[in-house]
Amino acid sequence: MEKILTVKNLVMKFSNHAVLKNIDFDIEKGEKVFIIGPSGCGKSTLLRCLNYLIKPTRGDITFEGQDLKKTDINLIRTKLGLVFQSFNLFPHLTVLENIILAPTKLKLMKEEEAKQKALELLNSIKLKDKANFYPDELSGGQKQRVAIIRTLIMEPNLIMFDEPTSALDPKMIKEVTSLIQEVAETGITMLIVSHEMEFVKSLATRVIFMQDGKIIEEGSPNEIFKNPKTKELQEFLNN
Ligand SMILES: Nc1ncnc2c1ncn2[C@@H]1O[C@H](COP(=O)(O)OP(=O)(O)OP(=O)(O)O)[C@@H](O)[C@H]1O
Ligand SMILES: [Mg+2]
Repeated sequence: MEKILTVKNLVMKFSNHAVLKNIDFDIEKGEKVFIIGPSGCGKSTLLRCLNYLIKPTRGDITFEGQDLKKTDINLIRTKLGLVFQSFNLFPHLTVLENIILAPTKLKLMKEEEAKQKALELLNSIKLKDKANFYPDELSGGQKQRVAIIRTLIMEPNLIMFDEPTSALDPKMIKEVTSLIQEVAETGITMLIVSHEMEFVKSLATRVIFMQDGKIIEEGSPNEIFKNPKTKELQEFLNN
């Protein structure tokens, strides 16, 4: 199998506090990799490092054969998308304007083309009638689905989600996980941080367990959930 992402000896320090301590892993094309682990263990920091929202203190990240240190990060980000936990839609822009912002700003699409594609995507999630609404006029689940569409319009090859359902009411979780499930079926590679264990079990091809800035254990969902090897993972799953 072909690797899409390789992470080697990744270290992230804030002041002198190491939050990521020598992280090593890779992802093959088409995999759906989930990261689980206790609050504060460095999951969000890892995703932020992977698309250079924060610059790692040390280590190497290679995406589609390119060293992130040596490439145009804006172009990398079009192919390595990140959907945030709290949507991060611009409140002063409409749904449509939010979706077309990146592709038009980066001159990847003409405005008309971007609008047409955005409306098609909105139609596919039954939110076309909300195109001219502002984010505040949407429910949490609708906002999160728009945030996903905003990433999908770039046609990324790897899409990362940081706790995509954690800011949602239980009622809305299903509509977001269903959309992620549909996106997964297109064959795209995914890296997802989640604490919805049923969601992890339903979609993961591999699970990485992190604690205290380190990868403690990784394996298939069966290995991780039915046969955890380390004391740390056993304790995490029992809580
Ligand atoms: N910009 C920052 N400056 C200083 N410390 C930070 C910064 N961002 C994160 N940290 C620290 O790094 C550690 C890991 O944070 P991170 O947000 O990556 O955890 P997490 O695993 O995503 O937790 P959660 O499950 O609660 O989202 C925490 O101790 C946090 O306080
Ligand atoms: Mg987090």
